[in-house]
Amino acid sequence: MNHVRIAIDGPAGAGKSTVARTVAKRLGILYVDTGAMYRGVAWLAQTYGVSPSDEAGLVAMLREHPLTCGRSEHDTVDILADGRVITQELRSPAVSGMVSELSAHPAVRDILTALQRDFSRHESVVMDGRDIGTVVMPDADVKIFLTADLDERARRRLSEMEGQGFCVDYQELRATMAERDARDASRPVAPLRQAPDAIVVDSTGKSVEDVADEILSIARQVLHG
Ligand code: CDP
Ligand code: CDP
Repeated sequence: MNHVRIAIDGPAGAGKSTVARTVAKRLGILYVDTGAMYRGVAWLAQTYGVSPSDEAGLVAMLREHPLTCGRSEHDTVDILADGRVITQELRSPAVSGMVSELSAHPAVRDILTALQRDFSRHESVVMDGRDIGTVVMPDADVKIFLTADLDERARRRLSEMEGQGFCVDYQELRATMAERDARDASRPVAPLRQAPDAIVVDSTGKSVEDVADEILSIARQVLHG
């Protein structure tokens, strides 16, 4: 297969990571979860007591404790901090609660955007996030904007978190997801928004496999006409 780049953006819980991973696996190409990189910065900030509002402090922290990315054996990207894989520690409510604020800083975004572009430069990727089709890979071959009802997105995230042993209240989770989406969509730099040439896929009421099939069929049409 030639060098193919697929961008998937959308709000929290739309199914981006799960579906992007499935699509990448079916195509036999790399999956890059850019949200995990922003979560990695939040994990470091929490560990070293840096406020998510302190842009200069976050940059200094990243200089001292660089976030690095390694390729896992499953063709996904592992996040490393201080030489240790932290990918499994990134989905806690504490990390989710601070990630959106620090993601709004242009200096933080510049560092992570460069890391993300490195992955797509030489090989085929499926990359998901908020600004992939608009900023990170504006020339992606296929751009998807994945959505779903807020209630369904919150229900999905609730069962995912309960499965990981977190005790969360549905209404509170729904409210914090809506708040995070609004913050991501309203920031001045690289906001969450649909690229003009993105195709909208609504995953409400659909299984992961159905959504992956839909995206693969869009990709085939775009790539082969
Ligand atoms: O899994 P979920 O959709 O809840 O979040 P995520 O994809 O892990 O992203 C966590 C946060 O990172 C988002 O709410 C954004 O604030 C930020 N993010 C971003 O700003 N740009 C990206 N390309 C990816 C994530
Ligand atoms: O990455 P994003 O925040 O957009 O969503 P996700 O983490 O991929 O999906 C959140 C949860 O919803 C996961 O547990 C998925 O298995 C589930 N999901 C689903 O039930 N049906 C879909 N069509 C997509 C995701």
